[in-house]
Amino acid sequence: MGVARAKTQARRPVPRFVISVDIKVLKLLFREGVEVPGVQLWMKGQGKTMDNDTLTITDNRTKQTYTIPIYRGTVHATDLRQIKTDPGDFGLMTYDPAFMNTASCHSAITYLDGDKGILRYRGYPIEQLAEKCTFLEVAYLLLNGELPTAHQLELWSGEVMSHTMTHENVKKFMDGFHHDAHPMGVLISTVAALSTFYPDARNVTDADCRRRQVVRLIGKMPTLAAYAYRHRLGMPYVYPDPELSYTKNYMNMLWKRTEPKYAANPVLSHALEVLFILHADHEQNCSTSAMRAVGSSHADPFVTTAAAIAALSGPLHGGANEEVLRMLDEIGSKDHISEFIKHVKSGERKLMGFGHRVYKNYDPRARIVKQVAEEVFEVTGRNPKIDIALDLERIALSDEYFIKRRLYPNVDFYSGIIYQAMGFTPDQFTVLFGIPRTVGWLAQWQEMMQDPDTKIARPRQVYVGEEARDFVPITLRDRELASA
Ligand code: CMC
Repeated sequence: MGVARAKTQARRPVPRFVISVDIKVLKLLFREGVEVPGVQLWMKGQGKTMDNDTLTITDNRTKQTYTIPIYRGTVHATDLRQIKTDPGDFGLMTYDPAFMNTASCHSAITYLDGDKGILRYRGYPIEQLAEKCTFLEVAYLLLNGELPTAHQLELWSGEVMSHTMTHENVKKFMDGFHHDAHPMGVLISTVAALSTFYPDARNVTDADCRRRQVVRLIGKMPTLAAYAYRHRLGMPYVYPDPELSYTKNYMNMLWKRTEPKYAANPVLSHALEVLFILHADHEQNCSTSAMRAVGSSHADPFVTTAAAIAALSGPLHGGANEEVLRMLDEIGSKDHISEFIKHVKSGERKLMGFGHRVYKNYDPRARIVKQVAEEVFEVTGRNPKIDIALDLERIALSDEYFIKRRLYPNVDFYSGIIYQAMGFTPDQFTVLFGIPRTVGWLAQWQEMMQDPDTKIARPRQVYVGEEARDFVPITLRDRELASA
């Protein structure tokens, strides 16, 4: 495809307010030389032999040699299937249970260099976006591939905020949860339940329909999260206020009491914007992979997002921010850090908020979160846990165990300390991760739905069970067991 298209036609721009395009339309647009932001780069990269590199493999079982193409530093796993011991052989597979060395997709959304500690959304360094953008501006960037103009941002913000309201019945089933239900369980269930309110969402191959659900989900996420929060406290729900910014509206729904107009502290709402930007996407992590895997079956985006939230809730992923706070509580004071580190090094405990599959250098998000913490403490007063955390980091980073394994603080190490200072309880922390990550999940879902390589996710396995054997009637099984 790439070779035929390479005839240098002048590319005509289309309006930048495009969020999703059906794959058939996309292919047509590409053939016609029309630019679709964010997708074009990837379409140009189609075709396995683009860089003419190859890999030659000799199978020592058969002494046969094979040459397979290398494309952007990867070989296609299916190219290995031709490597067989005999014609009846299934062919060679790769074994990679945790995707340690397997690219599962092409993506033009987020770039991450774990060795250098680099994170970029659509090419823009995370540090610049966190400093200069609002969360909805970054959401637009992730979804569309380009930063919005002032007019586009105004339209986009208005559109998202007009979708913040939920059906009244949502409040009813929210009421059905036990008073101390974990907010992540509530969020998973209520996001999945939205699927029943929007049956049109099943039409996932329709680009306009997909876009409608994207806006609905981004708009409603803070409302569901705030309802879950207030349900836990036994407080009446506060309706969204579309006149406010995304984060100020969320704060209003969380913390408004009897005052006629709740005024969010601008430093705290800015801190929340920055934290939301930092959490908006992180390429093919566990929850995003869940989003893509579930979405690949053409399940609707509400239940698909619920699956991604479920993946996020685990303590090795987004749930780590809650665990960090519990760990700091348990350590209690700086005097107990050395003892705790001993338990970590002996393998009894994990240092939560440390380590990352990809970052083997400082997580750039953790660096920004540390700065934000200081700004927040100016308003809220210092959370004493920060001093334990800073000492813990200092001691860990000078210890051979952590140095050898290249374990650094990740985004979750400091975020909970800020959230707690702002008034959130630890069980809310992962919800605060899930709200902004919804944008990343949806951007990745959109990209997947437009990718001609997408097929239902269905890994292979290496079967290690019994060979074929004959059924044993129940009356004879005792005898079989006795003779075993
Ligand atoms: N504390 C102590 N030892 C650790 C830690 C930790 N937090 N993380 C990794 N190790 C050790 C691990 O025991 C192993 O040691 P050895 O080689 O002796 O067996 C080595 O470091 C490599 O670790 P791994 O488990 O193979 O690494 P992984 O890439 O499979 O896991 C991780 C990555 C994030 C799940 C892991 O580092 C971890 O469990 N960290 C704590 C939980 C956490 O903070 N998660 C948030 C991740 S960032 C935000 C997000 O994306 O959700």
